[in-house]
Amino acid sequence: MKLFVDTANLEEIEALVPLGIVDGVTTNPSLLAKVGGDPRAALKRICEVVQGPVSAEVVATDSDGMVREGRELAAIDPHIVVKVPFGKPGVRACHTLANEGIRVNVTLVFSPAQALLAAKVGASFVSPFVGRLDDIGTSGMNLISQIVEIFENFEFSTEVLVASVRGPIHVIESARMGADVCTCPPKAIEALFNHPLTEIGLAKFLADWAKAQQQQPVA
Ligand code: E4P
Repeated sequence: MKLFVDTANLEEIEALVPLGIVDGVTTNPSLLAKVGGDPRAALKRICEVVQGPVSAEVVATDSDGMVREGRELAAIDPHIVVKVPFGKPGVRACHTLANEGIRVNVTLVFSPAQALLAAKVGASFVSPFVGRLDDIGTSGMNLISQIVEIFENFEFSTEVLVASVRGPIHVIESARMGADVCTCPPKAIEALFNHPLTEIGLAKFLADWAKAQQQQPVA
């Protein structure tokens, strides 16, 4: 399973990329607004650092506007994947952009039917939001399992990109279900590293080693 970072903050991305675990980045208007500045320049810099798919979302609400904006975003860098919100304008824009060879990530997906429609119009990725479903008392991971099953039935090449991830359980369950990608906020990636027994084990190895060194006879 590929791991994307869900942030527009370049410093956070630069801290994670050298670990070798980052396959791409997802941004959205809220994340880009948070970092401020020129969003196009920020996206270009992220593409240079990551060298993998970088999702950049349109803000137009009509299909023609989404297509226009999508073409402009795609021209920033070959790594850009144009993100369009699910809905009739988004589906229509995805159909047009995908036919032009522009990769599209259909976002704000909350049902298997929406994912199916996005796959039918050639989306490269669909982004089901698991955390936001959990927030309203519905199982986000159940949605992932249904979408993975549907895409396998028809051998769609659309990748299931699990979004709105809150922590390690979402990541582990996504991997178990065979989702293609999980996009995680840096905090959730950080949490994947942690296990108290690893820290306790390392402290003991180092303490035992230091003790043995002290017990060495002086030559
Ligand atoms: C990424 O593609 C999504 O925009 C993001 O994961 C949404 O996450 P949130 O529900 O934490 O805002």
